[in-house]
Order: sequence, then C-alpha cells, then structure tokens
Amino acid sequence: MNHDSNNTQSKKLTGQEVAKHNNRDDCWVIIHGKAYDVTEFLPEHPGGPKIILKYAGKDGTEEYDPIHPPDTLDKFLDRSKHLGEVDMSTVEQEEKEEDPEEAERLERVKRMPILEQCYNLMDFEAVARRVMKKTAWAYYSSGADDEITMRENHGAFHKIWFRPRILQDVENIDLSTTMLGSKVSIPFYVTATALGKLGNPEGEVVLTRGARKHNVIQMIPTLASCSFDEIVDAKEGDQVQWLQLYVNKNREITERIVKHAESRGCKGLFITVDAPQLGRREKDMRSKFSDVGSNVQNTGGDNVDRSQGAARAISSFIDPALSWKDIPWFKSITKMPIILKGVQRVEDVIRAVSVGCDGVVLSNHGGRQLDFARSGVEVLAEVMPELRRLGLDNKIEVFIDGGIRRATDIIKALCLGAKGVGIGRPFLYAMSAYGLPGVDRAMQLLKDEMEMNMRLIGCNSVDQLGPEFVDTRGLSMHSTGVPQDTLAVNVYDPLAGPKEKSKL
Ligand code: LAC
Repeated sequence: MNHDSNNTQSKKLTGQEVAKHNNRDDCWVIIHGKAYDVTEFLPEHPGGPKIILKYAGKDGTEEYDPIHPPDTLDKFLDRSKHLGEVDMSTVEQEEKEEDPEEAERLERVKRMPILEQCYNLMDFEAVARRVMKKTAWAYYSSGADDEITMRENHGAFHKIWFRPRILQDVENIDLSTTMLGSKVSIPFYVTATALGKLGNPEGEVVLTRGARKHNVIQMIPTLASCSFDEIVDAKEGDQVQWLQLYVNKNREITERIVKHAESRGCKGLFITVDAPQLGRREKDMRSKFSDVGSNVQNTGGDNVDRSQGAARAISSFIDPALSWKDIPWFKSITKMPIILKGVQRVEDVIRAVSVGCDGVVLSNHGGRQLDFARSGVEVLAEVMPELRRLGLDNKIEVFIDGGIRRATDIIKALCLGAKGVGIGRPFLYAMSAYGLPGVDRAMQLLKDEMEMNMRLIGCNSVDQLGPEFVDTRGLSMHSTGVPQDTLAVNVYDPLAGPKEKSKL
C-alpha cells in the first residue's frame, strides 16, 4: 500500500466540514477542489459579498471561473486563508434546477450552422446570439443606455461612400502595414475585450492563436479571464502583443502590471481613458438579475445590488481619478510606446501629442460607455485634417475601433488617415460559436474581402489609400434616414444568414 498517498488523502477536507462554514461570519468556498476562507475578504470582493455568500460552504468553481484569471486567489487572498484540498467525492452535488431556456439553447447548439456557412462577420454574430449562454451573450453584446452609440458605430460607416479610381493594374495587392513599428499582414488588430472565458472555456489564448496565424497584433486586456502570463505564453516566436491597461487606484499594482508586461515583451501600452466608471448596460444587468439565488437575498445585511451584471462586478478595479497629470508617471515607468485608448475629440488628440503620447485610439469603447458619444470614424474625420494643418500627423499614430464588420470599413478608416483599426466583438463571437476555427475564418474572410475591395477601388497597397477615395459629406449627419420606399422594400427578398441543420 502506498502510505504517502494515503496520508495526503487523509489530510483532505470533507465536503461536510466545508459546508459548516456557510455564513457571513464564517465563510469558506471551494474553488477547483480547494477550500478557501474568504470571511475577511467578503467586504473587499470587487463583485460584492452576495455572490460569494451564494456559494458559502459550497463549490463555486463554475461561477468563479469565467470571471477570474486562474492566479487571482494566489494574488489577492493571503496564503493563511488557503485551507487545502477537499475530497470532492464528499461534496454534495447541488441539484440544478431545470432551466428551460438553457435546454432550448443546447438544442440550438446541436443545430448550429456549419462554419462554412459563415460568409461575413455578421454571420458569426447571428450564430453566437443563438448558441451562447444567456449571461455571456448579454455581457458581450450589451452597450450603454439606449445603445444608440453602439449601433451608430456600425451605421457611421454607411455614411461614407467610395470614389474609386479605374485602370490601375491591380493584379498584385499588398495589405501589409506597420503599427507602432511592428509589421502586420493586414491593418487590423484584435482589440482588448474582457472575460474571454464567458464565450469559450479556453478564453483569450484562442485569440492569441488566431492572431498568430494571420500575423496580426493582439491587445491583451487587463480584465481578461486568462492570466496575463497564460496569454503571453500562448504566443509564438516574434508574435506581437500590446497591453490594454485599466489603471488601479493602487499605483503599485499598476506599476507592477506595466513593468511585467514590458519585461514579457509587450510592444505598446494602451491606457483606457474612456471608462472612469463602467457604463450602465441594461441587457447585462437584467441577465444577471434573474440569476440571483433566493438564498442570497435572504442573507441580507449589505446593500450591494446583484442586478449589476458582469460589468459592475469587475469595475471596482478602475481608478476614476486618473488624469492628464498621471501621463508623465507612465512615461517614467516604461519604455513601451504609450497610446491613449478612448479619445473622442481633436483637442484631446493634440494634448496627447503635447504630453508625449505615441498614439491614440479614437473609440467610444464599443458603445459601452457614454451613449451619444460619436463613432470613432466620425471623430477620425474631424481629427486628421486638423493634425495635418498643425503638422502633427506624423507625430502620432491614430487608430480607431468600434463597429467594424467589413473590410470596406477598414479601408474607409485607412483612407481617412487611421494607421489601423481594432476589432473586438466579432472575434469574440467567432470564438464563442466556433472556437479557433471560427476566429481563423473570420480573419481570413476579412483578408479576402479586403483584397477584393482594394482592387475595386484601384489601390495596390495601403499606403496609396487617402481621403480622395472617400466621400464623407454625410458623416456628421446625425438625423434619421428618409422614409423608406415601401413598394420596393416589400418586393425585396432579404439576404439570409447561415441555415440551421435540419432536426435530427
Ligand atoms: C467593458 C470593460 C471591462 O465591459 O472593458 O467594457
């Protein structure tokens, strides 16, 4: 008999022992087969104490996993509170209530269209909407308030029209460019989006692999589900990654994050400046609301509202006091280029140049922050002529994100002077629906579209693109469209998305 393993076995806690610590004054939880005493941590938990109390004395792994990088407990909970392994065979399995919506979702997953049925980025969104878990879809797809800005981001591109040129010998097309000194195959990057494991159990590393295959840059989010190191470890060779930074009140934490990113080879520091507080996303809030266990409400005693959704659960990380005064400090702690992400007016772009920033991302955070913020592409059209007038256009790299779904959107942004564009949700949807093959196909579709459209507007390479190829006269119009031509609309046969498989 192997005595050693027997000993370890006997040291394991039992489910019954853990279950005794099931209240606010004495609260243990099990995560990945290990018990933790979180009694003192409860009031500090960024997501509020109620969600932990729901799992007091129980296994909370399933809820915990998607929203916490794996090294969270090591980083934030004192070692003395790590109680050791639990014999999981003694933990009472909770009877899960039958959820008819979830059952229907699983049915839809079975009938999901094959990947080859997705011909554009919107198709991935259509599939993801049908097959993703309700809470995950709600968090990814939601925007602020009435979601006007979120929808405008996409609609803004419809106000820009092309002025193509002809007879240019467009046999060979080169889509490559550079961003902050790194060569990329096509002028988009995977922008930072939080909580990747809500959509795919592997999380952000799936995007790392997709980005590698297509030689595009990935911006690593501060609030990723995977740990920062896991995402860096997933890169290969000289693959380029940037860091998106949420600045914490505790600047030591921020300094540690920044220095670590630099030491691990990140090539750009993108400081998010449009989110001193996370926006109010009602779809996200509502989806979480229905998830409140009644036992939680009964535990009472604090005022943290469980209806705040995933966004609120992670927002306490962010320091609302961040200001222009902090920029010199960032410059003193890193040699990485500094880019402000979420700039929304030309005055701030000029100020960013004057304080020595290397770039800006004109962005409204995917319409998730200030509703009625203008689209990045509209701001771009305001910014670039002014930068050129002041001779500053070569002093800074300008990126945009938000609403990009077609290669024509990318081309429009480049014509107006963007160095590249960030794409967020579409890759999350592709990943959530189809994993890596989905991300791969989404990127390939953009490449194919872009090659064709470059040819059709008469340009061989991205450096040929310029304002003369676009008509932006309608871009700043925020009025609604003219009434529809109903006779024509009624006879129009709408394009169809990918078909579900027939019932098995
Ligand atoms: C968001 C954050 C976390 O939900 O970037 O928008």
